Amino acid sequence: MEKFVIHGGKKLRGRVKISGAKNGVLAMMPATILAPGTYTLKNVPNLRDVWTMSRLLNDMGIYSELNDGELFIDSRNINSFEAPYEHVKKMRASFYVLGPLVARFGQAKVSLPGGCAWGPRPVDLHLKGLEKLGAEIKIESGYVIAKSEKLKGTRIHLDVPSVGATGNIMMAAVLAEGTTVISNAAIEPEITALAKFLVKMGAKINGIGTNVLEIEGVNELHPATETVIPDRIEAGTLLIAGAITEGSVTIESCNPYHITAIISKMEEAGCEFEIHEDRVTVRMDGPPKPVDITTAVYPGFPTDMQSQWVSFMLKSTGVSKVTETIYPDRFKHVPELQRLGAEIEMSDNTAIVYGGKKLTGATVMGSDLRGSAALVLAGLIAEGTTEVIRIYHIDRGYESIDKKLRQLGADIERVPTDEF
Ligand code: UD1
Repeated sequence: MEKFVIHGGKKLRGRVKISGAKNGVLAMMPATILAPGTYTLKNVPNLRDVWTMSRLLNDMGIYSELNDGELFIDSRNINSFEAPYEHVKKMRASFYVLGPLVARFGQAKVSLPGGCAWGPRPVDLHLKGLEKLGAEIKIESGYVIAKSEKLKGTRIHLDVPSVGATGNIMMAAVLAEGTTVISNAAIEPEITALAKFLVKMGAKINGIGTNVLEIEGVNELHPATETVIPDRIEAGTLLIAGAITEGSVTIESCNPYHITAIISKMEEAGCEFEIHEDRVTVRMDGPPKPVDITTAVYPGFPTDMQSQWVSFMLKSTGVSKVTETIYPDRFKHVPELQRLGAEIEMSDNTAIVYGGKKLTGATVMGSDLRGSAALVLAGLIAEGTTEVIRIYHIDRGYESIDKKLRQLGADIERVPTDEF
């Protein structure tokens, strides 16, 4: 096991490159099930979740190799249609294999993901959508067993614009007979990127980037090469790292357009920005003003930035409210931040953050990916030494976060530990 040891108080300065999007590549990798052949995905981050997805695909007979950000995939020899609990429990994105397997092979056995650290995370919309396309779905011993002769195009309205359900249903519909319309579809950039990748593979999709996707099924697809879009959550996290330490940080190889909601809230808090085509500089002089946020689907303020915002507001000059509407229980970071001296009150799905209290270093424990990032951010401003344990969570979704922060001047080390 490893932990981070952070000595707080350093102002971050300098430039840092943003990696490819975790949620982008995790949707694209299963898409390679749809057409046998060899693929190269570029700008792929070296992350635990990417290894988990690779292992799951390897167990199905798909070869994969990641070298210097290029992921080579050979999907010519798929010989299993199963995603076992062992993989799915580690990473819910494993559920993405369901749609492609049913579409191409007419069968799939995929473990139900169950809950996660911040509460229930249903997959009912994925299943309803596939059933509407004509798949026969049974739940047996914790597994979804799906079968289908040939999927048939249909109209599917999602009750909520779920990212995963949109991706799964879209990947099934591209090989269905006839036209499928998905309305109230997610418009997160990673879904738009997945749709563009599928089009490169020969799929026919209209309405990309809107919440109505019209998919005309084709008989077969072919492999393609694609570059993964920049990770907007890593971008937002590093911008906050710059601002919370009252420094000046430039993030490079990012897409500023994808982080508009984050930038706009940071501007309200008093941050200054310089925005170019693929790089953004943030400057902060003094503590932020208190700014309320409410998480929402894209292009709203992302739930994946909620915990980092709580940390940012700990530095503020007043009281702010952070309201979570996507995953109401996603506040595991709050009790850990309180161990550092943070004053936060919880009221249902809202954290009331009393800014300006002195934080002092302590050992804190990450229990989910973004919550762990919030602990690291708090460690950067806490007095003394903060140790963050269980950093395997942060390694799921941030490529070398410790190296990147060190490059910006943070005093953070990754050290082995027996602490669990
Ligand atoms: C994806 C992201 C995750 C992000 C989330 C919201 C990946 C791999 N993960 O997760 O990082 O936090 O989007 O932006 O891309 N829901 C249902 N029924 C379903 C599916 C979802 O009710 O069948 C609800 C969920 O409970 C939640 C909301 O829809 O309230 C959004 O979830 P969804 O967009 O599906 O999140 P994921 O795709 O799991």
